Amino acid sequence: RIIIVDFGSQYTQLIARRVREAGVYCEIWPWDNCEDALNSQKPRGIILSGGPETVTGDNPPRAPEQVFNMGVPVLGICYGMQTMAAQLGGEVASSAKHEYGYAQVRARGHSKLLVDIEDHVTEEGYGLLDVWMSHGDRVETLPPGFSVIAETDNAPLAGIADESRGFYGLQFHPEVTHTTQGKRIIGRFLHEICGCESLWTPDNIIEDSISAIQEQVGEGKVLLGLSGGVDSSVVAALLHRAIGDRLTCIFVDNGLLRLDEGDQVMATFARHMGVKVIRVDAEQRFLDALKGETDPEKKRKIIGNMFIDIFEEEAAKIKDVDFLAQGTIYPDVIESAGAKSGKAHVIKSHHNVGGLPDYMKLKLVEPLKELFKDEVREIGVKLGLPSEMVYRHPFPGPGLGVRILGEVKKEYADILRQADNIYIEELYNFKLYDEVSQAFAVFLPVRSVGVVGDARRYEYVITLRAVKTVDFMTAHIGHLPWEFLEKVSSRIINEVSGVSRVAYDISSKPPATIEWE
Ligand code: XMP
Repeated sequence: RIIIVDFGSQYTQLIARRVREAGVYCEIWPWDNCEDALNSQKPRGIILSGGPETVTGDNPPRAPEQVFNMGVPVLGICYGMQTMAAQLGGEVASSAKHEYGYAQVRARGHSKLLVDIEDHVTEEGYGLLDVWMSHGDRVETLPPGFSVIAETDNAPLAGIADESRGFYGLQFHPEVTHTTQGKRIIGRFLHEICGCESLWTPDNIIEDSISAIQEQVGEGKVLLGLSGGVDSSVVAALLHRAIGDRLTCIFVDNGLLRLDEGDQVMATFARHMGVKVIRVDAEQRFLDALKGETDPEKKRKIIGNMFIDIFEEEAAKIKDVDFLAQGTIYPDVIESAGAKSGKAHVIKSHHNVGGLPDYMKLKLVEPLKELFKDEVREIGVKLGLPSEMVYRHPFPGPGLGVRILGEVKKEYADILRQADNIYIEELYNFKLYDEVSQAFAVFLPVRSVGVVGDARRYEYVITLRAVKTVDFMTAHIGHLPWEFLEKVSSRIINEVSGVSRVAYDISSKPPATIEWE
């Protein structure tokens, strides 16, 4: 395995994903809390990430000295290269010209890391790489034992290496796709320099997870809150493989799901896979609890608390449960580590499964907690889940509750379900579903005038939302073609009674959020 020492770059998770895509398991540890992991995990190689700080400032973040004494190869990227150079006796200075964006790097010499990897070849026979740069500082003087392996006009030391110790530094970012040969460079470091094999594959992940679950759970019984979302669905499939009917799932239908969603969940898990699923039809209880409430955050709390109440009631009916399974994934683990240091900023109370009260004393099973979302999806498909379920856009825990503005009523939810279904169906028909990151309809409880034949209509408004985003923290609007929007609008107005007008939301995030509430 590989350990990535994180200096806070926005690309650190991307480095980890590239390493995993190359078939090598890796973990991310913060620079000031990685020593135990380095000692206990005995990595085959270490990657030092980029970061926002400057090596030339006071008290810059440093890699623990042991990184350079463990006898394993080290790859420093951007800040990682600079701190490596500074710590090993080189010099780093602020560069007069900041480089940000595309650059072309000339390979020098025949370093193990870059030899025969190139986008172009110069007349003199040097390899040229198209890369993504983003830095203000640059290495000025090589540390003892190092030589130059790549240069640009602005950074004569854009790549450095001490081949005898297996230490490499790159000023550019091989992990971003703009660096076209990035995958090969990372693969070269992992496979040829560190000697890692490609063992991190979906089949092996499944096999290892199953043994780990069997070992942890023994003969115990496990309870899982199944929502139909990707993560809990994959947990259900994995646990079912590992422990069969010692898994019981509780699926709470809160009446705020998409069209036929509850039936689909039951068909997939209960009928098709033979998973034990208890479906609780709780629509009326949720509607009663939400009656008269218009405040978005209060609506979220009501929905979240009601879910916990119902889950507990159902759980209490099941005897001798020992474990509670949860669909925590690796980015949640990294994020909550960040949240402890006060970095996370709460804009909406994202209220998923709130966990169970202490008195239930259940131990947690979290089989996805080392996996990125794309890995969860891949193993989901391998486990036999329908790819439409696995590749579905995210759906918020409070469901349609935050897509019906203001007070939630059954009449509104029924209208919204039909409109949303038409929208999504047409996105698939036009092959646009995978072109956007999230798309959904929103119900506006205001009336607008329309005409049908000679009759005047005075009915509700539906808004369509589609965004493109990588991390859901910022988002651009989806550029859906007019003819598509026209088709959806005409179908919704003609097929869904109670709607007289369809609008398209053209707000980016920020300042607008993705959901309307
Ligand atoms: P916003 O609206 O904050 O949404 O831009 C960002 C992403 O989070 C989802 N979202 C939620 N998910 N409970 C959830 O589980 C919530 O209360 C919630 N609110 C927003 C939203 O769908 C988008 O993917």
